[in-house]
Amino acid sequence: MEKFGFVIHPITFSDISRKFGPLANFLPEKLVLSTMKKIGPQEVSHITGIKSATGKEAEGWFTACTLTTEQMVKLPEKFVVKKIIDAVNLAAQQGAKIVGLGAYTAVVGDAGITIAKNVDVPVTTGNTYTVATALLGLRWAADKLGTDLSQCRVGVMGAYGSIGKACSKVLAGSVGELALIGRKQHELEQLKEAISSKGQVSLHTDAHEVLPTLDALVTVTSAVDSVIEPEDLKTGAIVCDVARPRDVSKRVAEVRDDVLVFEGGAVLVPGDVDFNFNFGFPPKTSYACMAETMILALEGRYENYSLGRDLEVAKVEEMIKLAEKHGFELAGLRSFERAVKEEEINQLKERIAKKRTSA
Ligand SMILES: NC(=O)c1ccc[n+]([C@@H]2O[C@H](COP(=O)([O-])OP(=O)(O)OC[C@H]3O[C@@H](n4cnc5c(N)ncnc54)[C@H](OP(=O)(O)O)[C@@H]3O)[C@@H](O)[C@H]2O)c1
Repeated sequence: MEKFGFVIHPITFSDISRKFGPLANFLPEKLVLSTMKKIGPQEVSHITGIKSATGKEAEGWFTACTLTTEQMVKLPEKFVVKKIIDAVNLAAQQGAKIVGLGAYTAVVGDAGITIAKNVDVPVTTGNTYTVATALLGLRWAADKLGTDLSQCRVGVMGAYGSIGKACSKVLAGSVGELALIGRKQHELEQLKEAISSKGQVSLHTDAHEVLPTLDALVTVTSAVDSVIEPEDLKTGAIVCDVARPRDVSKRVAEVRDDVLVFEGGAVLVPGDVDFNFNFGFPPKTSYACMAETMILALEGRYENYSLGRDLEVAKVEEMIKLAEKHGFELAGLRSFERAVKEEEINQLKERIAKKRTSA
């Protein structure tokens, strides 16, 4: 039996009650947050029933770092990193031979490098398979809507972050124009230098100016609040929102019925997996970053894998192959916490066509 751990944390304050019960909702927020800051890592659940297509089996443990996203952004980095290290060590004590870093625990500081140096167990952010599933999802959605990405203006927002940079490198040369979006011009220029030989690349520090011109977008910033509003999107735009917390405002679901926004990275896990914890996905479905940790365990690849902000593009291909070998697959599109049905995509296609002809 192969063994892994995965560190999770409350994305928002409301997530705290999922682990600690509804009492958290009745206590003053300040008191709950200051208690969470003081307590050590928590055992959350035992993950059972993962069975690879090769017949190999794995089990794992969710452990919690008890800080919300906002706390991770605001508290001193050293303190936050130490809390994450403690959570990784707890997973190792439980028997994990590799530990994945979930959501913001993979974003803090140098994206896992310092954490990996300070623990005795291999670590991964799971970002390589997240890149793979985001791009596979984007292509799948484009095919369904009849959008030819090789003729389109495709953006990556958060372009020089860990996931964004690898997405940009893979997309370069295979789309009509690649629009790199970020807040720091020099970081965008450095990225362009690395990829512009592969095709047309443009740089944008004003997101609200460029977003309405895009046919497709992967958005993967580490912003704490949403950064894309309904008025930012072009009719027919396909948006893969990888970020957690999400980048696309919930208002988009309410007022735009002519765009396709979906969450990157929902994966069907092989076997009869039970996470024994509700993180908001349907049964047997995980985030890609969790899946990467499981896949590495099933392979017996107990080594640091996706760390830092310069992921290896070759590993994206490797992860796709390993996922196939073990029977992991894309779970279909999810949009604002629910599955998108095939007939909804067909209806959307009709609405887009109508809107385009009446424009
Ligand atoms: N769905 C999944 O399975 C999955 C898996 C892993 C990670 N994630 C999520 O993916 C996101 C990114 O992760 P990462 O590891 O790539 O993080 P990262 O390396 O820190 O990159 C994030 C990028 O976002 C930019 N950014 C931050 N705030 C911004 C804002 N308000 N507006 C525009 N850009 C902003 C940052 O650049 P500047 O601050 O320099 O502008 C940075 O380059 C996080 O939300 C994480 O939780 C999701």
